[in-house]
Amino acid sequence: MTNKINNMKKKFGIIGAGNIGQTVARHLLKAGYDVVLSNSQGPESLKETIKALGNGAVAGTVKDAADADIVLLSLPWSQIGTLTNVTDWTNKIVIDATNHFISYAPEFNVANLGGKASSEVVAEIIPGAFVVKAFNTLPFKILALDPKEGNGKRVLFISGNHGEAKSAVAAVIEQLGFAVIDLGDLAHGSKLQQANGAVATLNLIKLG
Ligand SMILES: NC(=O)c1ccc[n+]([C@@H]2O[C@H](COP(=O)([O-])OP(=O)(O)OC[C@H]3O[C@@H](n4cnc5c(N)ncnc54)[C@H](OP(=O)(O)O)[C@@H]3O)[C@@H](O)[C@H]2O)c1
Repeated sequence: MTNKINNMKKKFGIIGAGNIGQTVARHLLKAGYDVVLSNSQGPESLKETIKALGNGAVAGTVKDAADADIVLLSLPWSQIGTLTNVTDWTNKIVIDATNHFISYAPEFNVANLGGKASSEVVAEIIPGAFVVKAFNTLPFKILALDPKEGNGKRVLFISGNHGEAKSAVAAVIEQLGFAVIDLGDLAHGSKLQQANGAVATLNLIKLG
């Protein structure tokens, strides 16, 4: 497998520093990871956010975030197309936390993807990346909670086409305190995870 996986350093790049980006950042920071957060407006606009997140968080450009060891996509679906030429995505682990909504409450319309999974569309936009779908099924306020619930752990689902990339992401998610359920590849598993999929919004606790 490639150096980008084997020589993994613990630095995350987050593209989209809103509800989901900040929520995942908080979990990562708590577990000791460094994070670089980015948005479309540039690092200056994230000053207060970085201050609130505390040690280990820095603001960067979208390219800075894309050049980190593992990248989280947490930007609006409408903006996914901006990512193609940001960096060389080849062999990079990219966690796709997006959902393909094109409108929010009350309609919650989703984009017509012609039968493709939304993460397959993302994978086409960032060619060569090892796309793993994760962190997209729970509303951010639930995702933000302590993953430990009673005697159990909150479940996060993952799916992807590259086994080692998926294992690397699963290991991180477990370090954050969640239980992981692997749903398979992007064509099948990520369709269950994505907006309107069978496990979308499912707040499952794995006991024991
Ligand atoms: N909210 C949830 O509970 C939830 C749960 C699961 C999945 N999701 C998915 O996660 C994604 C983000 O949702 P959210 O609720 O976190 O949205 P949000 O709070 O509106 O945050 C979106 C972030 O993306 C940034 N952004 C916008 N355009 C960008 C671009 N071209 N490049 C880089 N950054 C850009 C925004 O900042 P600027 O506009 O300043 O650039 C903002 O920081 C969506 O795909 C959503 O469907 C959301």
